[in-house]
Amino acid sequence: MDEPKTDWESYDGRIRAAKTAQELAAVEQELFGRKAGAMTFALRSLHDVPEAERKTAAATLNTWKRTFEELIALRRKELASPSDDMLRTTDRIDVSLELPARERGHLHLIPEFIREVEEVFGRMGFDIATGPEIETEEFNFNLLNIPRDHPARDAQDTFWLKTSKKDMTATSLPLQGERLSEGNVGGRKGLHDRDRKNPEERLLLRTQTSPMQIRYMQSHKPPLRVIAPGKTYRKDADATHSPMFHQCEGLMVGEDVTLANMKAVMETAVRALVATNAEFRWRTGFFPFVEPGLEMDVRWRGNESESREGKWLEIVGCGMVHPNVLRNCGVDPKKYQGFAFGFGLDRMVMIRHQIPDLRLIFEGDLRFLRQF
Ligand code: DAH
Repeated sequence: MDEPKTDWESYDGRIRAAKTAQELAAVEQELFGRKAGAMTFALRSLHDVPEAERKTAAATLNTWKRTFEELIALRRKELASPSDDMLRTTDRIDVSLELPARERGHLHLIPEFIREVEEVFGRMGFDIATGPEIETEEFNFNLLNIPRDHPARDAQDTFWLKTSKKDMTATSLPLQGERLSEGNVGGRKGLHDRDRKNPEERLLLRTQTSPMQIRYMQSHKPPLRVIAPGKTYRKDADATHSPMFHQCEGLMVGEDVTLANMKAVMETAVRALVATNAEFRWRTGFFPFVEPGLEMDVRWRGNESESREGKWLEIVGCGMVHPNVLRNCGVDPKKYQGFAFGFGLDRMVMIRHQIPDLRLIFEGDLRFLRQF
Protein backbone atom coordinates (compact mmCIF):
# COMPACT_ATOMS: atom_id res chain seq x y z
CA MET A 1 0.00 0.00 0.00
CA ASP A 2 1.37 3.34 -0.97
CA GLU A 3 -0.48 5.60 1.42
CA PRO A 4 1.55 8.68 2.32
CA LYS A 5 2.99 8.00 5.74
CA THR A 6 1.31 9.90 8.54
CA ASP A 7 3.71 12.14 10.46
CA TRP A 8 2.90 10.97 13.97
CA GLU A 9 5.81 12.92 15.45
CA SER A 10 4.17 16.19 14.53
CA TYR A 11 1.02 15.30 16.56
CA ASP A 12 3.18 14.63 19.54
CA GLY A 13 4.59 18.17 19.28
CA ARG A 14 1.21 19.77 18.73
CA ILE A 15 -0.33 18.15 21.81
CA ARG A 16 2.49 19.39 23.99
CA ALA A 17 2.24 22.88 22.53
CA ALA A 18 -1.53 23.29 22.86
CA LYS A 19 -2.14 26.55 24.77
CA THR A 20 -5.80 26.18 25.54
CA ALA A 21 -8.27 23.41 26.17
CA GLN A 22 -9.88 24.22 22.79
CA GLU A 23 -6.62 23.87 20.93
CA LEU A 24 -6.05 20.55 22.60
CA ALA A 25 -9.56 19.35 21.78
CA ALA A 26 -8.95 20.26 18.13
CA VAL A 27 -5.81 18.12 17.92
CA GLU A 28 -7.59 15.30 19.69
CA GLN A 29 -10.38 15.53 17.15
CA GLU A 30 -7.88 15.42 14.28
CA LEU A 31 -6.44 12.22 15.68
CA PHE A 32 -9.39 10.37 17.10
CA GLY A 33 -12.43 11.89 15.34
CA ARG A 34 -14.81 9.07 14.45
CA LYS A 35 -14.99 9.95 10.78
CA ALA A 36 -11.85 11.77 9.78
CA GLY A 37 -9.49 11.17 12.69
CA ALA A 38 -6.00 10.25 11.42
CA MET A 39 -5.58 7.51 14.00
CA THR A 40 -9.13 6.21 13.48
CA PHE A 41 -8.43 6.04 9.79
CA ALA A 42 -5.02 4.37 10.17
CA LEU A 43 -6.44 1.71 12.48
CA ARG A 44 -9.29 1.01 10.09
CA SER A 45 -6.84 0.73 7.22
CA LEU A 46 -4.97 -2.11 8.92
CA HIS A 47 -7.26 -4.53 7.01
CA ASP A 48 -5.57 -3.47 3.82
CA VAL A 49 -2.08 -4.05 5.08
CA PRO A 50 -0.62 -7.28 3.73
CA GLU A 51 -0.82 -10.12 6.18
CA ALA A 52 2.95 -10.30 6.67
CA GLU A 53 3.30 -6.66 7.76
CA ARG A 54 0.01 -6.28 9.58
CA LYS A 55 1.22 -7.42 12.97
CA THR A 56 4.12 -4.98 13.23
CA ALA A 57 2.07 -2.16 11.73
CA ALA A 58 -0.68 -2.74 14.31
CA ALA A 59 1.85 -2.79 17.17
CA THR A 60 3.41 0.49 16.02
CA LEU A 61 0.04 2.16 15.64
CA ASN A 62 -1.11 1.00 19.06
CA THR A 63 2.01 2.39 20.69
CA TRP A 64 1.34 5.79 19.12
CA LYS A 65 -2.30 5.58 20.10
CA ARG A 66 -1.49 4.98 23.75
CA THR A 67 1.17 7.68 23.71
CA PHE A 68 -1.29 10.24 22.33
CA GLU A 69 -3.98 9.27 24.81
CA GLU A 70 -1.59 9.70 27.71
CA LEU A 71 -0.16 12.94 26.39
CA ILE A 72 -3.61 14.41 25.85
CA ALA A 73 -4.73 13.50 29.38
CA LEU A 74 -1.57 15.04 30.82
CA ARG A 75 -1.84 18.24 28.84
CA ARG A 76 -5.50 18.57 29.77
CA LYS A 77 -4.54 18.43 33.45
CA GLU A 78 -1.79 21.00 32.98
CA LEU A 79 -4.11 23.41 31.23
CA ALA A 80 -6.65 23.11 34.04
CA SER A 81 -4.08 24.11 36.69
CA PRO A 82 -1.50 26.45 35.32
CA SER A 83 2.03 25.40 36.06
CA ASP A 84 4.74 27.64 37.43
CA ASP A 85 5.92 28.02 33.95
CA MET A 86 2.62 29.42 32.78
CA LEU A 87 2.45 31.76 35.75
CA ARG A 88 5.86 33.06 34.96
CA THR A 89 4.89 33.97 31.45
CA THR A 90 1.24 34.90 31.56
CA ASP A 91 0.54 36.00 35.11
CA ARG A 92 3.67 37.81 36.09
CA ILE A 93 3.66 40.40 38.87
CA ASP A 94 4.90 43.69 37.62
CA VAL A 95 7.00 44.95 40.50
CA SER A 96 7.61 48.25 38.83
CA LEU A 97 3.92 49.10 38.84
CA GLU A 98 3.16 52.10 41.05
CA LEU A 99 0.14 51.67 43.27
CA PRO A 100 -1.52 54.39 45.30
CA ALA A 101 -0.04 54.54 48.82
CA ARG A 102 -2.04 52.50 51.24
CA GLU A 103 -3.74 54.52 53.96
CA ARG A 104 -2.48 53.74 57.42
CA GLY A 105 -4.14 54.63 60.67
CA HIS A 106 -2.44 55.71 63.85
CA LEU A 107 -3.27 56.00 67.49
CA HIS A 108 -5.41 58.86 68.68
CA LEU A 109 -3.27 61.49 70.31
CA ILE A 110 -4.46 60.73 73.83
CA PRO A 111 -3.55 57.01 73.96
CA GLU A 112 -0.35 57.95 72.18
CA PHE A 113 0.37 60.50 74.90
CA ILE A 114 -0.44 57.97 77.63
CA ARG A 115 2.23 55.67 76.21
CA GLU A 116 4.70 58.49 76.50
CA VAL A 117 3.61 59.20 80.07
CA GLU A 118 4.14 55.54 80.93
CA GLU A 119 7.58 55.63 79.43
CA VAL A 120 8.66 58.79 81.22
CA PHE A 121 7.49 57.50 84.59
CA GLY A 122 8.73 54.01 83.79
CA ARG A 123 12.20 55.47 83.50
CA MET A 124 11.77 56.89 87.01
CA GLY A 125 10.89 53.44 88.33
CA PHE A 126 7.09 53.71 88.43
CA ASP A 127 4.86 50.69 87.94
CA ILE A 128 1.70 51.05 85.83
CA ALA A 129 -1.71 50.11 87.18
CA THR A 130 -5.18 50.10 85.68
CA GLY A 131 -8.51 49.84 87.42
CA PRO A 132 -12.25 50.15 86.94
CA GLU A 133 -14.00 53.24 85.62
CA ILE A 134 -17.11 52.33 87.54
CA GLU A 135 -16.19 52.86 91.16
CA THR A 136 -17.75 52.61 94.55
CA GLU A 137 -18.43 55.66 96.64
CA GLU A 138 -16.06 54.13 99.16
CA PHE A 139 -13.04 54.07 96.86
CA ASN A 140 -13.76 57.26 94.96
CA PHE A 141 -14.47 59.34 98.07
CA ASN A 142 -14.64 57.84 101.56
CA LEU A 143 -11.27 56.11 101.73
CA LEU A 144 -9.68 59.19 100.20
CA ASN A 145 -10.72 61.15 103.24
CA ILE A 146 -13.74 62.71 101.53
CA PRO A 147 -16.73 61.66 103.64
CA ARG A 148 -20.29 62.02 102.46
CA ASP A 149 -20.91 65.58 103.60
CA HIS A 150 -17.51 66.95 102.76
CA PRO A 151 -17.71 70.12 100.66
CA ALA A 152 -14.88 68.83 98.45
CA ARG A 153 -17.44 66.54 96.86
CA ASP A 154 -19.19 69.52 95.35
CA ALA A 155 -16.16 70.27 93.20
CA GLN A 156 -16.54 66.92 91.54
CA ASP A 157 -19.88 66.87 89.78
CA THR A 158 -20.48 63.19 89.86
CA PHE A 159 -22.30 60.86 87.50
CA TRP A 160 -24.06 58.49 89.88
CA LEU A 161 -25.25 55.17 88.56
CA LYS A 162 -28.76 53.97 89.09
CA THR A 163 -28.30 50.71 90.86
CA SER A 164 -30.65 48.09 91.99
CA LYS A 165 -29.27 45.14 93.90
CA LYS A 166 -30.42 42.82 91.16
CA ASP A 167 -28.79 44.36 88.12
CA MET A 168 -25.47 45.36 89.63
CA THR A 169 -23.76 42.07 90.17
CA ALA A 170 -20.12 42.00 89.23
CA THR A 171 -20.73 40.02 86.09
CA SER A 172 -23.22 42.50 84.70
CA LEU A 173 -20.71 45.33 84.92
CA PRO A 174 -19.10 46.39 81.69
CA LEU A 175 -15.77 44.97 80.71
CA GLN A 176 -12.94 47.37 80.96
CA GLY A 177 -10.98 45.93 78.08
CA GLU A 178 -7.78 47.37 79.43
CA ARG A 179 -4.40 45.80 79.58
CA LEU A 180 -3.94 43.16 82.14
CA SER A 181 -0.69 43.88 83.84
CA GLU A 182 0.70 42.97 87.18
CA GLY A 183 -0.38 46.37 88.29
CA ASN A 184 -3.99 45.74 87.44
CA VAL A 185 -5.69 46.12 90.76
CA GLY A 186 -9.29 46.49 89.76
CA GLY A 187 -9.62 43.24 87.94
CA ARG A 188 -9.99 43.07 84.20
CA LYS A 189 -13.71 42.69 84.56
CA GLY A 190 -14.07 46.09 86.12
CA LEU A 191 -15.56 46.32 89.54
CA HIS A 192 -15.72 43.20 91.61
CA ASP A 193 -18.39 42.21 94.06
CA ARG A 194 -15.87 42.15 96.90
CA ASP A 195 -15.28 45.86 96.27
CA ARG A 196 -18.62 46.62 97.77
CA LYS A 197 -18.78 46.07 101.47
CA ASN A 198 -22.41 46.84 101.42
CA PRO A 199 -24.48 45.68 98.45
CA GLU A 200 -26.52 48.86 98.75
CA GLU A 201 -23.46 50.99 98.26
CA ARG A 202 -23.72 53.62 95.59
CA LEU A 203 -21.76 53.32 92.37
CA LEU A 204 -20.47 56.11 90.20
CA LEU A 205 -18.26 56.84 87.22
CA ARG A 206 -14.95 57.63 88.84
CA THR A 207 -14.47 61.39 89.04
CA GLN A 208 -10.73 61.02 89.46
CA THR A 209 -8.03 58.38 89.20
CA SER A 210 -7.23 58.86 92.91
CA PRO A 211 -9.12 55.68 93.97
CA MET A 212 -6.21 53.87 92.35
CA GLN A 213 -4.08 55.05 95.27
CA ILE A 214 -6.31 53.04 97.57
CA ARG A 215 -6.51 50.01 95.30
CA TYR A 216 -2.77 49.89 94.81
CA MET A 217 -1.87 50.39 98.46
CA GLN A 218 -4.34 47.73 99.51
CA SER A 219 -2.61 45.21 97.28
CA HIS A 220 1.04 46.30 97.41
CA LYS A 221 3.30 46.99 100.35
CA PRO A 222 5.55 50.07 100.46
CA PRO A 223 8.06 51.14 99.31
CA LEU A 224 6.12 51.63 96.10
CA ARG A 225 5.93 53.83 93.03
CA VAL A 226 3.01 53.62 90.66
CA ILE A 227 1.11 55.58 88.07
CA ALA A 228 -2.44 54.86 86.95
CA PRO A 229 -3.54 56.62 83.78
CA GLY A 230 -7.14 56.37 82.64
CA LYS A 231 -10.52 57.86 81.93
CA THR A 232 -12.43 59.94 84.45
CA TYR A 233 -15.89 61.53 84.32
CA ARG A 234 -17.56 64.68 85.56
CA LYS A 235 -20.60 66.69 84.63
CA ASP A 236 -18.58 69.48 83.11
CA ALA A 237 -18.22 70.87 79.59
CA ASP A 238 -16.44 73.95 78.29
CA ALA A 239 -13.20 74.79 76.48
CA THR A 240 -11.06 73.25 79.21
CA HIS A 241 -13.49 70.66 80.62
CA SER A 242 -14.98 67.59 79.00
CA PRO A 243 -17.43 65.17 80.72
CA MET A 244 -14.97 62.40 79.91
CA PHE A 245 -11.35 63.29 80.42
CA HIS A 246 -8.08 61.62 81.27
CA GLN A 247 -6.02 61.72 84.40
CA CYS A 248 -2.87 60.07 85.49
CA GLU A 249 -2.63 59.29 89.15
CA GLY A 250 0.76 58.81 90.73
CA LEU A 251 1.88 57.58 94.09
CA MET A 252 5.23 57.12 95.72
CA VAL A 253 5.45 55.86 99.28
CA GLY A 254 8.51 54.95 101.29
CA GLU A 255 10.22 55.63 104.59
CA ASP A 256 11.83 58.88 103.51
CA VAL A 257 9.95 60.19 100.51
CA THR A 258 9.72 63.98 100.70
CA LEU A 259 8.00 66.95 99.11
CA ALA A 260 11.29 67.81 97.41
CA ASN A 261 11.21 64.40 95.71
CA MET A 262 7.71 65.16 94.57
CA LYS A 263 8.63 68.48 93.00
CA ALA A 264 11.57 66.91 91.23
CA VAL A 265 9.40 64.13 89.80
CA MET A 266 6.65 66.56 88.72
CA GLU A 267 9.03 68.96 87.06
CA THR A 268 10.91 66.19 85.26
CA ALA A 269 7.62 64.83 83.94
CA VAL A 270 6.31 68.19 82.75
CA ARG A 271 9.57 69.01 80.98
CA ALA A 272 9.58 65.63 79.25
CA LEU A 273 5.90 65.62 78.36
CA VAL A 274 4.88 69.20 77.68
CA ALA A 275 8.00 71.10 76.68
CA THR A 276 11.60 71.18 77.84
CA ASN A 277 11.25 74.90 78.43
CA ALA A 278 7.76 74.73 79.95
CA GLU A 279 7.11 77.55 82.37
CA PHE A 280 5.26 76.56 85.49
CA ARG A 281 4.33 77.83 88.90
CA TRP A 282 3.42 76.18 92.18
CA ARG A 283 0.45 77.16 94.29
CA THR A 284 -0.95 75.68 97.44
CA GLY A 285 -4.16 73.78 96.90
CA PHE A 286 -6.60 71.81 98.94
CA PHE A 287 -7.33 68.15 98.39
CA PRO A 288 -8.62 66.14 101.35
CA PHE A 289 -6.31 63.20 100.65
CA VAL A 290 -3.06 65.18 100.84
CA GLU A 291 -1.48 67.45 103.40
CA PRO A 292 0.02 69.79 102.41
CA GLY A 293 -1.52 70.03 98.94
CA LEU A 294 -0.10 71.81 95.91
CA GLU A 295 -1.15 72.64 92.41
CA MET A 296 1.05 73.21 89.43
CA ASP A 297 0.09 75.51 86.59
CA VAL A 298 1.82 75.58 83.25
CA ARG A 299 1.90 78.69 81.13
CA TRP A 300 -0.22 78.55 77.99
CA ARG A 301 2.19 78.50 75.07
CA GLY A 302 -0.10 79.40 72.21
CA ASN A 303 -1.73 82.66 71.36
CA GLU A 304 -2.97 83.93 74.73
CA SER A 305 -6.34 84.98 73.41
CA GLU A 306 -6.93 81.36 72.39
CA SER A 307 -7.01 80.17 75.95
CA ARG A 308 -10.16 81.15 77.76
CA GLU A 309 -8.45 80.38 81.04
CA GLY A 310 -5.91 83.09 80.47
CA LYS A 311 -2.18 82.58 80.74
CA TRP A 312 -1.98 79.64 83.10
CA LEU A 313 -3.55 76.23 83.01
CA GLU A 314 -3.71 73.99 86.06
CA ILE A 315 -2.42 70.59 85.08
CA VAL A 316 -1.70 68.74 88.28
CA GLY A 317 -2.83 68.50 91.86
CA CYS A 318 -0.48 66.86 94.31
CA GLY A 319 0.79 66.71 97.85
CA MET A 320 1.96 64.51 100.68
CA VAL A 321 -0.40 61.59 101.24
CA HIS A 322 -2.70 62.29 104.18
CA PRO A 323 -2.06 59.99 107.18
CA ASN A 324 -5.74 59.01 107.17
CA VAL A 325 -5.41 57.68 103.65
CA LEU A 326 -2.34 55.64 104.59
CA ARG A 327 -4.19 54.27 107.59
CA ASN A 328 -7.22 53.42 105.44
CA CYS A 329 -4.93 51.19 103.41
CA GLY A 330 -3.20 49.56 106.36
CA VAL A 331 0.02 51.55 105.95
CA ASP A 332 1.56 52.89 109.15
CA PRO A 333 1.89 56.69 108.80
CA LYS A 334 4.52 56.74 111.55
CA LYS A 335 6.79 54.61 109.45
CA TYR A 336 5.88 55.61 105.91
CA GLN A 337 5.18 58.80 104.07
CA GLY A 338 4.84 59.67 100.43
CA PHE A 339 3.37 61.87 97.79
CA ALA A 340 0.52 61.56 95.35
CA PHE A 341 -0.35 63.46 92.23
CA GLY A 342 -3.06 63.62 89.62
CA PHE A 343 -2.18 64.98 86.18
CA GLY A 344 -4.82 66.27 83.82
CA LEU A 345 -3.55 64.52 80.71
CA ASP A 346 -5.80 66.25 78.17
CA ARG A 347 -4.70 69.63 79.40
CA MET A 348 -1.07 68.66 79.08
CA VAL A 349 -1.76 67.66 75.48
CA MET A 350 -3.56 70.98 74.93
CA ILE A 351 -0.58 72.98 76.06
CA ARG A 352 1.92 70.82 74.27
CA HIS A 353 0.16 71.15 70.92
CA GLN A 354 -1.45 74.53 71.53
CA ILE A 355 -4.96 73.23 71.09
CA PRO A 356 -7.33 76.00 72.11
CA ASP A 357 -10.36 73.87 72.91
CA LEU A 358 -10.27 70.55 74.75
CA ARG A 359 -13.43 69.35 73.06
CA LEU A 360 -11.68 69.22 69.68
CA ILE A 361 -9.70 66.25 70.94
CA PHE A 362 -12.79 64.12 71.41
CA GLU A 363 -14.94 65.11 68.48
CA GLY A 364 -13.28 62.63 66.15
CA ASP A 365 -12.87 65.09 63.28
CA LEU A 366 -10.20 63.55 61.08
CA ARG A 367 -9.09 66.93 59.72
CA PHE A 368 -8.06 67.72 63.28
CA LEU A 369 -6.75 64.31 64.32
CA ARG A 370 -4.59 63.80 61.24
CA GLN A 371 -2.41 66.71 62.29
CA PHE A 372 -0.90 64.72 65.12
N1 DAH B 1 -7.87 63.84 92.12
C1 DAH B 1 -7.66 65.26 92.06
C2 DAH B 1 -8.64 65.88 91.11
O1 DAH B 1 -9.23 65.22 90.37
C3 DAH B 1 -6.27 65.57 91.60
C4 DAH B 1 -5.27 65.24 92.64
C5 DAH B 1 -4.89 66.18 93.55
C6 DAH B 1 -4.71 64.00 92.70
C7 DAH B 1 -3.97 65.94 94.51
C8 DAH B 1 -3.76 63.71 93.67
C9 DAH B 1 -3.40 64.70 94.55
O2 DAH B 1 -3.19 62.54 93.78
O3 DAH B 1 -2.47 64.40 95.51
O4 DAH B 1 -8.81 67.05 91.12
